[in-house]
Amino acid sequence: MAKAKEGHVEIKNVTKIYDPLGANVLAVDNCTLEIQAGEFLAIVGPSGCGKTTMLNMLAGFDSVTEGEVCVDEACVASPTMRLTPGPDRMVVFQLGALFPWRTVLENVCFGPLMQGTMSKKEAIDKARDLLRVSGLQGFEDDYPMNISSGMQRRVEIVRALINEPKILLLDEPFRALDAMTKSVMHKYLLDLFDMIGKTIMFITHDLDEAIYLADRIFVMTTRPGRLKKWIDVDLPRPRDVHVKVSDRFMELRQEAIAAVHEEALKAFERGERELAT
Ligand SMILES: Nc1ncnc2c1ncn2[C@@H]1O[C@H](COP(=O)(O)OP(=O)(O)OP(=O)(O)O)[C@@H](O)[C@H]1O
Ligand SMILES: [Mg+2]
Repeated sequence: MAKAKEGHVEIKNVTKIYDPLGANVLAVDNCTLEIQAGEFLAIVGPSGCGKTTMLNMLAGFDSVTEGEVCVDEACVASPTMRLTPGPDRMVVFQLGALFPWRTVLENVCFGPLMQGTMSKKEAIDKARDLLRVSGLQGFEDDYPMNISSGMQRRVEIVRALINEPKILLLDEPFRALDAMTKSVMHKYLLDLFDMIGKTIMFITHDLDEAIYLADRIFVMTTRPGRLKKWIDVDLPRPRDVHVKVSDRFMELRQEAIAAVHEEALKAFERGERELAT
């Protein structure tokens, strides 16, 4: 496995308030977490607890109200900084974002060619390499609508990776996929992670997915999002589906379910109270 030297993330006492002068929504409350270079971190928590907000602050899409976010010791977000999204932090979202009118190869090459970070030849060579290791050789000239949903997701991941990010940020990337395709995507991501050794922040509602893929899980409380619990996933790598029936996987599952269920219940009860008032 490639050992990452870059992509060390520190989120230090970060608070996010949306619309401070109006609705004043406290989304994330004083969260601190560190992701080691080359670590696979999953974030789970009830709906609306601030997971996407955390990812957006690290990606440089959303401002930080208090605290700071650092990558490899350099500050990338603080209350006084303007937003700084960069090719060192690439995001893959839940919903597909491929250009339907461009081929697979054109979609992958689009970013570096637009930004002028690679020559056309460099971009094409690199895209072909990444598509090959992603099982997409032979589909370079297809349009997104002519390949399967799992393949489209892989193209999106390749499109992020061509920029050589230090950190890959994935926000529920497999949520819309059927169970079989999801399982294929899990194996793809596990193999890719072992091969490229990049830091990954992966957001999901699916606890089995988090345990199967991650090194550690950051469980968030119901909104405002805070740390509820850290879960160390001490399952050996490389992993395959057999690990899902191991005793240790079941133990970790119980631990995660208990933590998330408690928070989901709080969110539900709060919703009931809000409805009653
Ligand atoms: N632009 C915004 N303005 C005001 N409030 C917002 C904004 N974006 C998010 N919020 C609120 O902040 C809270 C956290 O939202 P966020 O999208 O981070 O949650 P999440 O954990 O990703 O939820 P989900 O699991 O449903 O994707 C929610 O209560 C949401 O309504
Ligand atoms: Mg979200």
